[in-house]
Parts: sequence; C-alpha cells; structure tokens
Amino acid sequence: MADSENSVEMEGLYQPPNELQKDAHVKSFDQYKEMYKKSVEEPEEFWKEIAKEFYWKSPPTGRFLEYNFDYTQGPISIKWMEGAKTNICYNVLDRNIERGLGDKIAFYWEGNDPNDHGKITYKELLQKVCKFANVLKAQGIKKGDRVAIYMPMIVELTIAMLACARIGAIHSIVFAGYSSESLADRIIDAKCLAVMTADGVWRGTKLLNLKQIVDEAIRLSGERSHKVSKCIVVRHLSPSDEEVIDGDGDGHDEPPAKRPYRKLKINWHSDRDVWWHDVMKDSSDISEPEWMDAEDPLFMLYTSGSTGKPKGVLHTVGGYMLFTATTFKYVFDYQPDDVYWCTADVGWITGHSYVCYGPLGNGATSIIFEGTPMYPDAGRLWEVVDKYKVTKFYTAPTAIRSLMKFGDSFVTKYSRKSLKILGTVGEPINPEAWLWYHKVVGNGKCAIVDTFWQTETGGHVITPLPGATATKPGSATFPFFGVVPAIVNDEGKELTGAAEGYLVFKQPWPSIMRTVYGDHERFETTYFKKFPGCYCTGDGARRDEDGYIWITGRIDDMVNVSGHLLSTAEVESALIEHKAVTEAASVSHPHKIKGECIYCFVTLKQGFEFTPDLTTELKNIVRAKIGPFAQPDFIQNAPALPKTRSGKIMRRILRKTAVGDRQLGDTSTLADESVIDLLFQNRPNDA
Ligand code: WTA
Repeated sequence: MADSENSVEMEGLYQPPNELQKDAHVKSFDQYKEMYKKSVEEPEEFWKEIAKEFYWKSPPTGRFLEYNFDYTQGPISIKWMEGAKTNICYNVLDRNIERGLGDKIAFYWEGNDPNDHGKITYKELLQKVCKFANVLKAQGIKKGDRVAIYMPMIVELTIAMLACARIGAIHSIVFAGYSSESLADRIIDAKCLAVMTADGVWRGTKLLNLKQIVDEAIRLSGERSHKVSKCIVVRHLSPSDEEVIDGDGDGHDEPPAKRPYRKLKINWHSDRDVWWHDVMKDSSDISEPEWMDAEDPLFMLYTSGSTGKPKGVLHTVGGYMLFTATTFKYVFDYQPDDVYWCTADVGWITGHSYVCYGPLGNGATSIIFEGTPMYPDAGRLWEVVDKYKVTKFYTAPTAIRSLMKFGDSFVTKYSRKSLKILGTVGEPINPEAWLWYHKVVGNGKCAIVDTFWQTETGGHVITPLPGATATKPGSATFPFFGVVPAIVNDEGKELTGAAEGYLVFKQPWPSIMRTVYGDHERFETTYFKKFPGCYCTGDGARRDEDGYIWITGRIDDMVNVSGHLLSTAEVESALIEHKAVTEAASVSHPHKIKGECIYCFVTLKQGFEFTPDLTTELKNIVRAKIGPFAQPDFIQNAPALPKTRSGKIMRRILRKTAVGDRQLGDTSTLADESVIDLLFQNRPNDA
C-alpha cells in the first residue's frame, strides 16, 4: 500500500503515523520500552509519580503496593495505596474544574434520533452529580450500600454513577439489555437497596420499556426475599403534556413537542418509585465528597462465570482511578483538544472505564451515544464523527464487521478527516476487519489500537501505544505499563520466544479486580488456582517471533457473542427450564459478524418432538432468561450427548459437530461412539 502521503505500512508492520508521533506522550518504541521497564521493575515508584497528579486527602498509611498472587502462600490479596484517602468523583470533576476546565464540555449527548442531542460542561455535571448525591443520601443510601443502575445511554447514567462514587455507595450497573431475571439475580446477589432507571429507551426502531423490566425484576427479588426500597426513574420518553423537561441534559428545558418522544405507558408504585426530576428539583448542589480509602470498593460489575452464576467483579477506588486515567491518556494519546468517542454501553466495563472514569479523569470531552451504528442507516457512526469532529474513536470488532458488509459508500460519504486514532475492544479482530478499519474508516492515516483487556483487569492490559508501537493487523501487540504477561502451557510452565498457550499475568497492576463480591474463594479459584502465582485470564495467546502477542480467544467454556461474554452453562441452565428439555449443551460457533455465536444441543424428554416451533420457544427462553443478545443462532436435536465414561460432556466433539468437521481426534474416552453418527445426522440444514 505505497501511498506516499500515508505510507505507514512496511513489510506487514503499520508504523505510527508521523503526524501523531510528533506530539505523542510516547514517541518511540524505545521510549515505551524504557517506561515499561521502570513500571514493572519499580511499580511503586512508577505509580507514585502518576498518583501525584491526583488529589489525595491523605497519603497511604502502609506500603504503596502490597500483594500476594500465590494462593499456596496464603489468601490472594492486592492492595494499592491502602490507607490513602481520596474520592474519584472529586478527582474527575472538582479537580478538573479547579484546573480551569469548568466550562469545558464533559459530554456531548447524541440521542438515538439524530435530531436529539445535548451537552454538559464539567461545572454543570458536578452540579448535577452533587444534587443527585444529596438525593441518594435523602433516600437513605450511604457509604458501602449497593445501588443498581439499569439505564440507557443518557447523561443521567453517568450522573448516577458519579453520585454513588461521591458518597461512597457501590454502583452495580446492569446493561439495559438484560432481562428482568438477570437483573433480579444481580440485584439480589449484591443486595441492592435501590435501583435507578429510566422509563424507556429507543434502540434503533425498537422501543424498550425499561421501567417494566425493572418492575418485574424488583417483584422477582421480593419473591426471593430481597426488598428493593427505592426506584428512581428518569423521565426520558414519557413527558406529561403540561411539563417541559431537560431530557438531553443540556441545562435547558425543552417542550416534549419538539422532541421525538412517544408516550410510554408505565406503571407506578408510589410507595417505592420516585421521578428523578422531582427529587432533583430542590436538592442542594453542595455535596462534600466522602473521603474513601484507596482500597474501599468503588463498584461491582457482573460478568459471566463458567459455572453459570455471574460474578460480581469488584473494583476499588484508588487503583482503578490511576489505571483508567493513565491508560486513557497513553492508549488514546489524549490531547486537550480531543473529542473522544467510545461507542460502548456504560453497562459494560468498557463504558465504565472509557466512557466515564478514564476520559473524565483526564478532563476530556467525549460523546455519550444512545443510538446504534445502523440507525437511521449504516453511516450513523461517521455522521456523528463529522458532526462533533471526533479525533479518537473506540468501538468493537463486531460493529466494524457489521458495517463492512454495507460497503464503503456509507463511510466515504463523510469526511472523517478529524480522526487520528481508532481503537477496538471486546474480541479478537480479524485482519480483514482491521484493514478495512484502517484503510476505509481511517483513510490509511490513523493509528489503530487493538486493546485487549477484561472486566477483571479494569483497563487496557495488552495494547499498542499509538505513537510508539508498529502494529500488525490482529495483534494486541505489547503489555501496558505495569503489566507482566506470560504464556504458559497446560502444566503451568512458562513458554518463552515464539509460543502459544494460556495467557497469564505475573504481577498486579493498579486496577486488577480485588475480589468477587461476597465470594473471595471463587475469586481465588477462578483466577489464581490454575497456575499458582499467576492471574489466569481464561484466554489463549500466541507470541510471534517478533514478540507480538496475539489473543486467540477464550479457552474456557465462554462464548464471546459480539463482544459480550456469556458462559455456556448460563445458556444451558436457561434451556433446561423448558419442559421438553432433559439435557442441554451449548458451544461457541464461528459467526461472520458476531465473531462467535451460540450453538445448542438439546436432548428432549420422552413424548416431545423436535419441531421448528420448539426451536423458537427455546431461543425465546434464552432471550427471556438472559437477554436478547444471548439468543442462540442454532438449536440442534441431540438424541444423546457425547460423554466420557465418567459422564462428562465432551464439548470438543460438540464444537466439531457444530461446524460439521468429522476430524474428531481422539474419541477413545467416549462412552458410546454411536452417538457421533446421530449427532451428525441431526445437524440443522442452515448450520
Ligand atoms: C475478549 C471487555 C481479543 C477476551 C473489555 C477477554 C479480546 C474478554 C480483546 C473480556 C481484544 C477483549 N482481542 N480478545 N482486543 N478485548 N477480548 O470482560 O476473551 O467483557 O477475556 O471485557 O473479551 O470481556 P469483557
């Protein structure tokens, strides 16, 4: 691709664009290596320097870092800056305002409907956060209490989370695409006292009644003896006729007639439900932050576990604050005039770290996007890029792949000349999508950062730095500061040089999760028991001869559907709730757009027949139990499942069956080999 102006490619390596490199925080690979070396050899010194940029009410009382990564030596524990007092909300808002950024835009809000938009400055955001902090207190919420947030992508979502952080309440955000049952499970596990939501939201052309889903979740929790005493509801879609509201969070009220609002019918429980705007009206905008210990919990976020029950991944205040702000600064090479846009929903970790805390920690201006890449058409993302002159853009490979298939014209119709850095996250990106992102979206002149990380890691752990790292399409490249990866084999032996195996980390960085909420043992078992002394990611990785790391995907029973991790066990337990199903197994299956999809095998009870209607019912049960994004693509009749003599399902064989590959490898441990023919005979025609 010898384009003279943008010649960034040399022998399969994409060099950092010169223009960007000039002013980058890290300008060369040598500089990266030097900083990296310090960060892993003297982590305390390295992060102490960075911590100086933040406000601390008081310094750590003990060591800056104390940890045990080896369960054979005692309980796993990770503590950064214990005893230090700070508040992340204060740091991302008040501190920035004191630095003179009060009138800077914190967020542009872009609604699902292209005519729906707004903006909010740092000063205005602080004012609303303080008001809402006082609302929470008035509702009896205090430090350490858990609050569930089930909201669409509106400014109030960030206000709610920052208000929790301000008073020390632990937010548990549940993606507003999960079902009532999933929401109820999470509310009960965390014993949330209150739920914040909105009446509803448009997602593309679909109207979702969020309040109804929350009502049902609260009812289910009640049935299981957990009472939610408050539900605070943002009026987003259902303004009353006489009322004008500030629906876009821009500080100005607008009449509903001007907006594409629809009347949404919702039920009201007056003993429990309150309108956001009612309680905000007379609330004071002065709120002294709660001074938190660096190791106090900040939030929990549920992620799928391979045993089925989701895990409440717990992050703490100090380390998470340092790491999200620092990764944001370096990985997106943040500059003060940037307009940054991460399309992820705040309901996922990417939204927590790179819509909310990381960008705000740097005083950045960013976009909160309520819509979808396809609405009103496949050019929406690039239209928004031009509208706000976005410089740094961050999305998921699945979005890129789904847009690719609509052709280049939806992209080239827009100028996109403001773009400098393009990021991806959530799943391995195939080189074809990487190249399209680079050539078509980025006009060949942007740096691409393929960032590997997890809910558990809090922030980027393996990623290029845009001014320093020459990239290879599909490789997440090298570790971020403070992160020490290793590739190990089944026996836990570290493999050096070019090798493939399990990806583990050998020492803690500031935002590694601290525990599974309420179940420290599960934390230790899931992440630290497989390879003593190391944090096990659950992902496979390959290191090539140049030292580049390539993530090869999950090696446990997880499926990554469009960047959303699901456990096969979760899907199976939904399926067996159907009266016709006696046994179910689900596996990951490659999918052109979603990356992976779910392929299920069901064994029916006597007297039930495998029909198209049953297939639909089974798909629907998974949608209802988990959420629409978890719907299986394939359901296959399996008169019997392949099992070992000890009764363990051989998933390897199921994965092969799903893709129609008869090269099954060793089948000698199968209890009954005749199962295989039956399985292949029953493959659905469209698989
Ligand atoms: C996968 C999302 C390859 C991986 C931030 C990981 C990736 C899981 C990448 C975490 C990437 C995330 N390349 N795979 N750049 N980023 N993954 O917890 O399997 O929703 O373990 O966090 O996504 O998903 P989670």
